[in-house]
Amino acid sequence: MTTEEKSSYIIREARLEDLDQVIAINMEALPEHYPRVFWEEHVKRWNKAFLVAEVNGLIVGYIMCRVEWGWGFTKNKLLRKGHVISIAVRKEFRRKGIGKALMEKAMKALKEEYGAEEVYLEVRVSNKPAINLYEKLGFKIVKRVVAYYLDGEDAYIMAKLL
Ligand code: ACO
Ligand code: ZN
Repeated sequence: MTTEEKSSYIIREARLEDLDQVIAINMEALPEHYPRVFWEEHVKRWNKAFLVAEVNGLIVGYIMCRVEWGWGFTKNKLLRKGHVISIAVRKEFRRKGIGKALMEKAMKALKEEYGAEEVYLEVRVSNKPAINLYEKLGFKIVKRVVAYYLDGEDAYIMAKLL
Protein backbone atom coordinates (compact mmCIF):
# COMPACT_ATOMS: atom_id res chain seq x y z
CA MET A 1 0.00 0.00 0.00
CA THR A 2 1.37 3.42 -0.93
CA THR A 3 1.36 6.37 1.47
CA GLU A 4 -1.43 7.95 -0.54
CA GLU A 5 -3.59 4.81 -0.35
CA LYS A 6 -3.07 4.65 3.40
CA SER A 7 -4.54 8.13 3.83
CA SER A 8 -7.75 7.54 1.90
CA TYR A 9 -10.06 5.96 4.41
CA ILE A 10 -13.79 5.76 4.89
CA ILE A 11 -15.66 5.74 8.20
CA ARG A 12 -18.78 3.58 8.48
CA GLU A 13 -20.93 1.81 11.04
CA ALA A 14 -19.49 -1.50 12.25
CA ARG A 15 -21.09 -4.84 11.29
CA LEU A 16 -20.87 -8.14 13.16
CA GLU A 17 -18.59 -9.49 10.38
CA ASP A 18 -16.05 -6.76 11.21
CA LEU A 19 -15.55 -7.93 14.77
CA ASP A 20 -12.67 -10.37 14.10
CA GLN A 21 -10.58 -7.50 12.74
CA VAL A 22 -11.82 -5.01 15.36
CA ILE A 23 -10.93 -7.38 18.20
CA ALA A 24 -7.52 -8.08 16.63
CA ILE A 25 -6.79 -4.33 16.56
CA ASN A 26 -7.88 -4.01 20.18
CA MET A 27 -5.68 -6.96 21.26
CA GLU A 28 -2.65 -5.40 19.60
CA ALA A 29 -3.23 -1.79 20.64
CA LEU A 30 -4.56 -1.92 24.20
CA PRO A 31 -4.32 -3.96 27.40
CA GLU A 32 -8.09 -3.59 27.99
CA HIS A 33 -9.95 -6.46 26.35
CA TYR A 34 -13.57 -7.63 26.40
CA PRO A 35 -15.46 -10.85 25.78
CA ARG A 36 -16.83 -11.21 22.25
CA VAL A 37 -20.47 -10.92 23.45
CA PHE A 38 -19.64 -7.47 24.82
CA TRP A 39 -18.49 -6.30 21.37
CA GLU A 40 -21.55 -7.91 19.76
CA GLU A 41 -23.93 -6.25 22.21
CA HIS A 42 -22.47 -2.85 21.37
CA VAL A 43 -22.67 -3.39 17.61
CA LYS A 44 -26.33 -4.33 18.00
CA ARG A 45 -27.46 -1.71 20.53
CA TRP A 46 -25.43 1.39 19.69
CA ASN A 47 -24.60 0.76 16.06
CA LYS A 48 -24.62 4.45 15.06
CA ALA A 49 -21.80 5.09 17.54
CA PHE A 50 -19.75 1.94 16.85
CA LEU A 51 -17.70 2.90 13.84
CA VAL A 52 -14.83 1.48 11.84
CA ALA A 53 -12.30 3.11 9.53
CA GLU A 54 -11.63 1.14 6.35
CA VAL A 55 -8.82 1.40 3.80
CA ASN A 56 -9.16 -0.76 0.67
CA GLY A 57 -11.40 -3.20 2.50
CA LEU A 58 -9.07 -3.48 5.50
CA ILE A 59 -10.36 -2.32 8.88
CA VAL A 60 -7.69 -0.02 10.29
CA GLY A 61 -9.45 1.48 13.31
CA TYR A 62 -12.58 1.41 15.42
CA ILE A 63 -14.49 3.31 18.08
CA MET A 64 -16.99 1.59 20.37
CA CYS A 65 -19.42 3.65 22.45
CA ARG A 66 -22.48 3.20 24.60
CA VAL A 67 -25.15 5.49 25.98
CA GLU A 68 -25.74 5.81 29.72
CA TRP A 69 -27.96 7.77 32.08
CA GLY A 70 -26.27 9.38 35.06
CA TRP A 71 -24.87 12.42 36.80
CA GLY A 72 -23.10 14.80 34.45
CA PHE A 73 -19.40 15.67 34.58
CA THR A 74 -19.92 18.92 32.68
CA LYS A 75 -23.39 19.83 34.00
CA ASN A 76 -24.64 19.40 37.54
CA LYS A 77 -27.68 17.29 36.71
CA LEU A 78 -28.84 13.88 35.54
CA LEU A 79 -28.35 13.49 31.86
CA ARG A 80 -27.82 11.11 29.00
CA LYS A 81 -24.14 10.63 28.30
CA GLY A 82 -22.14 9.00 25.60
CA HIS A 83 -19.34 6.78 26.89
CA VAL A 84 -16.40 6.08 24.59
CA ILE A 85 -15.40 2.61 25.73
CA SER A 86 -12.56 1.94 23.33
CA ILE A 87 -10.85 3.50 20.34
CA ALA A 88 -7.77 2.31 18.49
CA VAL A 89 -6.07 2.68 15.12
CA ARG A 90 -3.59 0.18 13.64
CA LYS A 91 0.00 1.37 14.16
CA GLU A 92 0.85 1.84 10.47
CA PHE A 93 -2.22 4.04 10.01
CA ARG A 94 -1.77 6.40 12.95
CA ARG A 95 -1.20 10.17 12.71
CA LYS A 96 -3.35 10.51 9.59
CA GLY A 97 -6.40 11.97 11.25
CA ILE A 98 -8.28 8.66 11.50
CA GLY A 99 -8.62 8.70 15.31
CA LYS A 100 -9.91 12.26 15.19
CA ALA A 101 -12.39 11.43 12.43
CA LEU A 102 -13.70 8.40 14.36
CA MET A 103 -14.17 10.53 17.48
CA GLU A 104 -15.91 13.34 15.61
CA LYS A 105 -18.34 11.06 13.81
CA ALA A 106 -19.12 9.08 16.99
CA MET A 107 -19.76 12.28 18.99
CA LYS A 108 -22.13 13.52 16.29
CA ALA A 109 -24.06 10.23 16.43
CA LEU A 110 -24.14 10.24 20.25
CA LYS A 111 -25.71 13.68 20.15
CA GLU A 112 -27.96 13.48 17.11
CA GLU A 113 -29.03 9.83 17.14
CA TYR A 114 -29.07 9.10 20.87
CA GLY A 115 -29.67 12.53 22.43
CA ALA A 116 -26.53 12.49 24.58
CA GLU A 117 -25.73 15.86 26.21
CA GLU A 118 -22.13 15.04 27.02
CA VAL A 119 -19.46 12.51 26.14
CA TYR A 120 -16.87 11.03 28.49
CA LEU A 121 -14.14 8.42 28.61
CA GLU A 122 -11.36 7.04 30.78
CA VAL A 123 -7.73 7.18 29.65
CA ARG A 124 -4.43 6.11 31.23
CA VAL A 125 -2.65 9.13 32.72
CA SER A 126 0.47 8.11 30.73
CA ASN A 127 -1.34 7.92 27.37
CA LYS A 128 -0.13 11.20 25.90
CA PRO A 129 -1.21 10.54 22.28
CA ALA A 130 -4.80 9.83 23.31
CA ILE A 131 -4.96 12.68 25.85
CA ASN A 132 -3.68 15.09 23.17
CA LEU A 133 -6.32 13.86 20.75
CA TYR A 134 -9.13 14.32 23.28
CA GLU A 135 -7.89 17.77 24.31
CA LYS A 136 -7.75 18.79 20.68
CA LEU A 137 -11.43 17.84 20.45
CA GLY A 138 -12.34 19.98 23.47
CA PHE A 139 -12.37 17.35 26.22
CA LYS A 140 -11.29 18.43 29.71
CA ILE A 141 -9.90 16.29 32.53
CA VAL A 142 -12.69 16.19 35.13
CA LYS A 143 -11.42 13.55 37.54
CA ARG A 144 -8.48 11.26 38.34
CA VAL A 145 -9.37 7.72 39.39
CA VAL A 146 -6.58 6.10 41.43
CA ALA A 147 -5.60 2.55 40.36
CA TYR A 148 -8.43 2.34 37.84
CA TYR A 149 -6.57 -0.14 35.64
CA LEU A 150 -5.72 -3.74 36.53
CA ASP A 151 -1.98 -2.99 36.58
CA GLY A 152 -2.54 -0.17 39.10
CA GLU A 153 -2.25 2.82 36.77
CA ASP A 154 -4.54 5.81 37.38
CA ALA A 155 -7.13 6.99 34.87
CA TYR A 156 -8.22 10.46 33.93
CA ILE A 157 -11.88 10.84 33.23
CA MET A 158 -12.20 13.32 30.39
CA ALA A 159 -15.51 14.83 29.35
CA LYS A 160 -17.01 17.27 26.90
CA LEU A 161 -20.39 18.92 26.52
CA LEU A 162 -22.05 17.96 23.24
N1 ACO B 1 1.84 11.95 20.11
C1 ACO B 1 1.31 13.16 20.40
N2 ACO B 1 0.08 13.56 19.98
C2 ACO B 1 -0.64 12.68 19.25
C3 ACO B 1 -0.14 11.40 18.93
C4 ACO B 1 1.16 11.05 19.37
N3 ACO B 1 1.72 9.85 19.10
N4 ACO B 1 -1.07 10.73 18.21
C5 ACO B 1 -2.14 11.58 18.08
N5 ACO B 1 -1.87 12.77 18.70
C6 ACO B 1 -2.75 13.94 18.78
C7 ACO B 1 -2.21 15.04 17.90
O1 ACO B 1 -2.65 16.25 18.42
C8 ACO B 1 -2.90 14.72 16.58
O2 ACO B 1 -2.96 15.79 15.71
P1 ACO B 1 -1.70 16.05 14.69
O3 ACO B 1 -1.38 14.73 14.04
O4 ACO B 1 -2.24 17.06 13.74
O5 ACO B 1 -0.59 16.54 15.56
C9 ACO B 1 -4.28 14.38 17.06
O6 ACO B 1 -4.06 13.63 18.26
C10 ACO B 1 -5.11 13.57 16.06
O7 ACO B 1 -4.38 12.42 15.71
P2 ACO B 1 -4.99 11.30 14.75
O8 ACO B 1 -4.08 11.10 13.59
O9 ACO B 1 -6.42 11.60 14.44
O10 ACO B 1 -4.94 10.04 15.75
P3 ACO B 1 -4.63 8.52 15.35
O11 ACO B 1 -5.39 8.11 14.15
O12 ACO B 1 -3.18 8.31 15.33
O13 ACO B 1 -5.28 7.77 16.62
C11 ACO B 1 -5.08 6.93 18.86
C12 ACO B 1 -5.01 8.17 17.95
C13 ACO B 1 -6.44 6.24 18.65
C14 ACO B 1 -4.97 7.38 20.31
C15 ACO B 1 -3.93 5.96 18.46
O14 ACO B 1 -2.70 6.54 18.87
C16 ACO B 1 -4.03 4.56 19.06
O15 ACO B 1 -4.68 3.67 18.52
N6 ACO B 1 -3.37 4.36 20.24
C17 ACO B 1 -3.36 3.05 20.91
C18 ACO B 1 -4.71 2.73 21.51
C19 ACO B 1 -5.14 3.82 22.52
O16 ACO B 1 -4.35 4.32 23.30
N7 ACO B 1 -6.45 4.15 22.49
C20 ACO B 1 -7.05 5.12 23.43
C21 ACO B 1 -7.27 4.49 24.78
S1 ACO B 1 -8.43 5.40 25.79
C22 ACO B 1 -9.94 4.91 25.20
O17 ACO B 1 -10.05 4.00 24.43
C23 ACO B 1 -11.18 5.62 25.72
ZN1 ZN C 1 -15.03 3.52 30.12
